Amino acid sequence: MQSNEIRSRFLTFFEKRGHKIIPSASLVPENDPSVLFNTAGMQPLVPYLMGEKHPLGTKLVNVQKCVRTQDIDEVGDNTHDTFFEMMGNWSLGDYFKDEAIAWSYEFLTSKDEGLGLDPNRLYVTVFEGDENSPKDTEAFEIWKKFIPENRIYFMGAKSNWWSVGDNGPCGPDTEMFYDVTTEGLGDLTKEEYMKADESQKVVEIWNDVFMQYVKKDGKVVGKLSQQNVDTGSGLERVVMAVQGKNNIFDTDLFSNIISKINEHSTVDNTKAKRIVADHIRTSVFIMADGAIPGNTGRGYILRRLLRRAVRFADTLGFKNEALSQIVDIIIEQYKDVYPELLSNSEVIKKEIANEESKFRQTLTNGLKEFEKGTDPFVLATTYGFPIELTLEIAKEKGIEINLEDFNQKMAEHQKLSQTSSAGMFKGGLANHNEKTIRLHTAHHLLLAALQKVVSPDIKQRGSNITEERLRIDFMCDHKLTDEEKKKVEDLVNEKISAGLNVIRREMPLAEAEKIGAQMEFGAKYPETVSVYFVEDESGNQFSKEFCGGPHVTNTKELGYFKIQKEEAVAAGIRRIKAVLD
Ligand code: ALA
Repeated sequence: MQSNEIRSRFLTFFEKRGHKIIPSASLVPENDPSVLFNTAGMQPLVPYLMGEKHPLGTKLVNVQKCVRTQDIDEVGDNTHDTFFEMMGNWSLGDYFKDEAIAWSYEFLTSKDEGLGLDPNRLYVTVFEGDENSPKDTEAFEIWKKFIPENRIYFMGAKSNWWSVGDNGPCGPDTEMFYDVTTEGLGDLTKEEYMKADESQKVVEIWNDVFMQYVKKDGKVVGKLSQQNVDTGSGLERVVMAVQGKNNIFDTDLFSNIISKINEHSTVDNTKAKRIVADHIRTSVFIMADGAIPGNTGRGYILRRLLRRAVRFADTLGFKNEALSQIVDIIIEQYKDVYPELLSNSEVIKKEIANEESKFRQTLTNGLKEFEKGTDPFVLATTYGFPIELTLEIAKEKGIEINLEDFNQKMAEHQKLSQTSSAGMFKGGLANHNEKTIRLHTAHHLLLAALQKVVSPDIKQRGSNITEERLRIDFMCDHKLTDEEKKKVEDLVNEKISAGLNVIRREMPLAEAEKIGAQMEFGAKYPETVSVYFVEDESGNQFSKEFCGGPHVTNTKELGYFKIQKEEAVAAGIRRIKAVLD
């Protein structure tokens, strides 16, 4: 049975039993600022679980798109993924344990209306009780009608209590597991079952939550006004059970994606292939719901997923832009069920290609520096190499990273940038966001262009760079003509398109002065200085400036440069504000 049929069988099964079908909500929660993504089917329904009336009644069924990234390090094993579809049926103060359990069992095992799974491969857990809620003998008794008693295990709150975060509706649950081994495990003691779970020989395929309590600040504080049922069954895992596979990547949901990845791989590494498949799939879904890569919140999670995908694609030998072909396959796979993937495909492809090419350069340079043993702080601030990546690679290589030292340096660094943005230092960057960093590099190109077009005597007198624009003050005895401004813009854009490398070199102050690196008027420099060069492959330099960074690694990353304003700030000092589009 194919995944599309499983999805629709689920909806039809519950529709026939009085449930109304509701569509998946967006991955990006509409009215809940406390979470970045919907992580479970119940999230968009919280108000109704808490007692509000749902317009379609008290029995609902859906397939909800979910993103969970807390287990990102597990992706690559047989069952973990960061995006998944959760099939769920809902009782909003309507039916309770009897129907919920009976229907779960019937859907899983019925050949006609359900999935026809083998009842002899099912194992079930129920809640053993604690100070919040008694032992769930009720669920146990109901299950006994369907499953032999010795395959039903009582478990603690850690595995059999569901809540999302510290506040909101919650309750004990009963979970269903399926044996995915070829030989079949047969009866298992509780210990054996727990071992089988750990080694992914049995996998959780469904969870029925009996949602009747409410949590506040991490504590159960009372009962809800109604008894709800919230069930969740991960489509990917169910498909794996139905299709007789022992991992989700061999199912029809992933097989075309993995085949495409195989085509582009020159190295065989199953884990890396799975990571690329998973992360790109998740990124596509996130972008289809309107998020774009960025430095905070959702955008940052998305960027992290994409960067990780690029890194693993790189280890597989992917050529630049091969990822966009993976994107095409993913869109093809899902477009009929989630048309938003197709309607947003242009943006998705553009953003992914953009992130890929930007990050590839960072990756190449960062990895080189990593090999040299460069301090993680320098890797992050000068080379844009994220600390998560440093930690991950270090772990792979068995190298210890002093995270405390990194955090401390980072905190000092941020304090410094904040102070500088508050205007206490001249020439500061407002922050180290990517946009600011791009404008910083553009600033170097602009100074060099002014010297070439207007006068070699032009000297910088101050600068200020935010994410929105750069500002440079420089000594010049006249207002720039329109022609000069145009020539300056053209020259900067020419150097951007030329894809010049931006390289940091440390050298003695005297040497830097000798080669004529630009310094800020009146500034004091230490004995060893850092100089940024913008140069082509043969080392022809367009710009060289005393500077602590950070910068992009290649001018290609900048975009289109445009002067917004040119004005006088004092006698003999002019100011330019410019932007990158
Ligand atoms: N809310 C429950 C879960 O996500 C069904 O497992």
